[in-house]
Amino acid sequence: MTVEITGIGVRLRAYRPDDVEAVAAGYDDPLCFRFLPPLPSPFTVAHAERFLSEGVTSVFADGGVVYAIADPETDEVLGGIGFDKVVPSRGQAEIGYWVASWARGRGVATAAVRALSAHALGAGLARLELLTHWDNPASQRVALAAGYQREGVRREALPGRDGGREDLVAFTRLAGDSGEPIPRLLPDLPGGELGDGVVTLRPLGPEDTPFTLTLRGLPEVWQTSVPPIPPTLAEIRQRCSRAPAHWLAGTRAEMVIVDAATGTPAGEIALFYQEPVTGQAMIGYSMLPAFRGRGLATRAAQLVALWAFAETDVARLIAGTLPTNVGSQRVLEKAGFHREAYLKSRLPGPDGTRVDDVEFVLLAEDLLTEGPRLDG
Ligand SMILES: CC(C)(COP(=O)(O)OP(=O)(O)OC[C@H]1O[C@@H](n2cnc3c(N)ncnc32)[C@H](O)[C@@H]1OP(=O)(O)O)[C@@H](O)C(=O)NCCC(=O)NCCS
Repeated sequence: MTVEITGIGVRLRAYRPDDVEAVAAGYDDPLCFRFLPPLPSPFTVAHAERFLSEGVTSVFADGGVVYAIADPETDEVLGGIGFDKVVPSRGQAEIGYWVASWARGRGVATAAVRALSAHALGAGLARLELLTHWDNPASQRVALAAGYQREGVRREALPGRDGGREDLVAFTRLAGDSGEPIPRLLPDLPGGELGDGVVTLRPLGPEDTPFTLTLRGLPEVWQTSVPPIPPTLAEIRQRCSRAPAHWLAGTRAEMVIVDAATGTPAGEIALFYQEPVTGQAMIGYSMLPAFRGRGLATRAAQLVALWAFAETDVARLIAGTLPTNVGSQRVLEKAGFHREAYLKSRLPGPDGTRVDDVEFVLLAEDLLTEGPRLDG
């Protein structure tokens, strides 16, 4: 099938033999090695020649397509895109793509995915799947921007290189979908962070694993977590590496509280969007001992509340504390929350017990009438 598909700033065209150097250079890249189906590393010109002669032919032979993403002005290869794993009886296929490191971060993948998806769904496919690794937020952003809705998690869908198996996050776009970007329940922080000069909040990520292990390994921190069990390194690693994907999914916004004076991580705070339907979210936070008692958690709670009420549809922000956790109750009161309910046996406690929960609430109108108290 010889087709040319144009999108904004991209042209999808057949691969040519003289693309071999660009394909070799593009695929010989750590992100392609990590996130694409098994590629040899290093990826040589000989590998690229085999891909262009045999790989491309076999995709078309199985009912799929694969194209170079080219610059419409210069015809330079910027990446590759296609769909395979075609299931004709279901009108379904799986889209995949890569962009060369020198062309990333300027909308090339988004434009190419939009163009190929519209073309394929307009030509008779009913459903395109897009599967990403949990820790590939760049690709998840492409999916959302190209009108793919997050559907769920395919557990252990992919054999990993180490002999284990990896979960994949599934996005889909249907023939009847508009193709417009999927609205986000939890947008990015403005400018990438929140701050008041004393604390800075930035999104939690994979690089925060050592800090999070230290913080969440403290007995008073894990004992007040759900479930109250000390976390393992693997759990912490997973939490940090999946945090950007949870944010994009609109389920939780996890942030590191940084002491602005020194740039040192001091604690963590998260907003869990438990009930988007009713506009209720919950916050939780913990500080390292050296940073307690300085009003930093109060500042962080207020910054998250101001962001949530201004930038999301959250109408009620709640927080729960153990009845004995007077320090945390004080933080909430100083941040403008009001004590609302005493919930008996609300949470799992140690050794199979249940513990009570004192619940606090903050409403947008509380902040409007009482004003933020950022001087803590
Ligand atoms: C995923 C990939 C195709 C994106 O290509 P691209 O041309 O840079 O994509 P776009 O410019 O259209 O969009 C990238 C988005 O990811 C964001 N992004 C880039 N790097 C990121 C990172 N490390 N963490 C989080 N987001 C990131 C960009 O800011 C942009 O989002 P925005 O538009 O909301 O600001 C490219 O990184 C790649 O080739 N990776 C290796 C192969 C791969 O992962 N393929 C997909 C397999 S499912």
